[in-house]
Amino acid sequence: MKYYPPSNHIYYENSDVAINKLNIKDLKIITEIEKELVIKAYETLHKELDENTIFDEEYLCITHEIIFASLYEWGGKYRSVNISKGDSMFCPYINLESFSKDIFNKLQNDNYLKNYEDIALKDEFVKKLSYYMCELIVLHPFSEGNGRGIRLFFDIIVTFNGYKYIDYKSTLENDDYISASIDCMETDCNRMEKIIENGLNKVTSLH
Ligand SMILES: Nc1ncnc2c1ncn2[C@@H]1O[C@H](COP(=O)(O)OP(=O)(O)OP(=O)(O)O)[C@@H](O)[C@H]1O
Ligand SMILES: [Mg+2]
Repeated sequence: MKYYPPSNHIYYENSDVAINKLNIKDLKIITEIEKELVIKAYETLHKELDENTIFDEEYLCITHEIIFASLYEWGGKYRSVNISKGDSMFCPYINLESFSKDIFNKLQNDNYLKNYEDIALKDEFVKKLSYYMCELIVLHPFSEGNGRGIRLFFDIIVTFNGYKYIDYKSTLENDDYISASIDCMETDCNRMEKIIENGLNKVTSLH
């Protein structure tokens, strides 16, 4: 689904396709290319992950850049316009920088969620993950690709703590993830928390 208002001039005219470096206008083709790019970005970041990785604002931009920058000019860059989807108006551009700093300062105080390897802390980890995920959804820092960038960001954090990538299962297909995101706009993280709780499993888990 496209962003409105059309001040977000990133799409070809009368099209759902974002203007891209390959000048591809076919939605199916571009969707397939993006899928490949997401897979490659997971592999790259997984490979590069080590003890010193810091999950800060720069890292969020890197996750987005690695997925999208080969295809789109806006890859890895914070937006410079206001955007909305449905009834949701995301963080006003004018507040974007300062709200982002607030979120990442908090995340830094939580040591970037790097201390949640212990399975006994899973409930607390789920709460923290859903809190920060909701905050970043409300922020919606990028012109496009916020969902995939944000999920990749948290998937690398959970990997760091010995978990598999979060399994969002059908919630991405049946729109539960979007409903949970809409709740986030009202600072209600409960549904997102359920989704993450159900989808978070240790690498060693039998399930
Ligand atoms: N009406 C809405 N209100 C609030 N948040 C929404 C709404 N619709 C979608 N979202 C959130 O925005 C994300 C989509 O953002 P965007 O289109 O920038 O990223 P994407 O990577 O293209 O999307 P997707 O998550 O579908 O792969 C969704 O994942 C969801 O979290
Ligand atoms: Mg999108």
